[in-house]
Amino acid sequence: MKQLSLFPEYPASLPVVNVASVPQRSPFRYPGGKTWLVPVIRRWFASFAHKPQEFVEPFAGGAIIGLTAAFEQLAEHVTLVELDAAVAAVWQTVIEDGEGVWLAEQIEQFALTPANVQTLLQQTNLPLRERALQTIVKNRVNRGGILAPGAGKLKFGEAGKGIGSRWYPQTLKKRILDIHAIRQRLTFISGDGISVLRDRAGQPKVVFFIDPPYTADGKRAGSRLYTHNDLDHEELFAVVQSLAGDFLMTYDANDRIRALAQQHGFDVELIPMKNTHHAAMVELLIGRDLRWLR
Ligand SMILES: C[S@@+](CC[C@H](N)C(=O)[O-])C[C@H]1O[C@@H](n2cnc3c(N)ncnc32)[C@H](O)[C@@H]1O
Repeated sequence: MKQLSLFPEYPASLPVVNVASVPQRSPFRYPGGKTWLVPVIRRWFASFAHKPQEFVEPFAGGAIIGLTAAFEQLAEHVTLVELDAAVAAVWQTVIEDGEGVWLAEQIEQFALTPANVQTLLQQTNLPLRERALQTIVKNRVNRGGILAPGAGKLKFGEAGKGIGSRWYPQTLKKRILDIHAIRQRLTFISGDGISVLRDRAGQPKVVFFIDPPYTADGKRAGSRLYTHNDLDHEELFAVVQSLAGDFLMTYDANDRIRALAQQHGFDVELIPMKNTHHAAMVELLIGRDLRWLR
């Protein structure tokens, strides 16, 4: 409850979310993953008079919010968008190509030895579904799940802390098969999230969860976390302002983003979270009208 005094704007009705209490449906462990926001997203959907026709996550990454919306049928359809080709390979394989069973079996059969990891990660120009397997393995063996160039690897043989400690083939298999089973509710677009926002700007029955890479704050440098991190935030805010449908956006809490939100007439709220090291932190939630949260 420390957050209450540290962050007086925090709505007292919202408990600090313990990520372990939210079903983890993504096969990724994703830097900046939004598992902790799931209860807030459920509350947001509950505030709508009608089920949205489409839910769009234009910066999908590990897509925990989009997957939750699809599993819990919070919208008629869910569309995920991601620019990073390595991440996109997983979503294309499972959602578009219907190859989730193949991928799940490959994960189950993969013997996680130093030699096998090295051989798989060195390969280039792989067919799409093999690239998906490569991404899943890389996401597990790299420190923090970071897929951007330069990410460090966990070491083999650190008792309880090395690569093996992040490799749960049966869990990953189940998550992928579960997504495979509901793939008809999902569409994946490999490309630029801002273009997809622009395409759907005039549609009032479409709602958006926008979680862009953020690079202006050196402490949580998006440039280290994501291969694609160079985003025009002014442009994004302008496009978001033009949306006919409702939206939620999350950002690191800082003055530049608060100023942008204010300029566009958006509502802001600080939301507490616990990061993977269980440290209490906050992020900024931005929306057109966040009264449903209070
Ligand atoms: C903060 S992360 C999203 C994390 C996600 N909400 C989750 O829970 O896993 C931002 C993502 O946006 C992607 N990205 C960066 N620029 C993009 C763009 N122009 N269009 C679509 N995705 C982009 C990055 O590759 C990264 O996966």
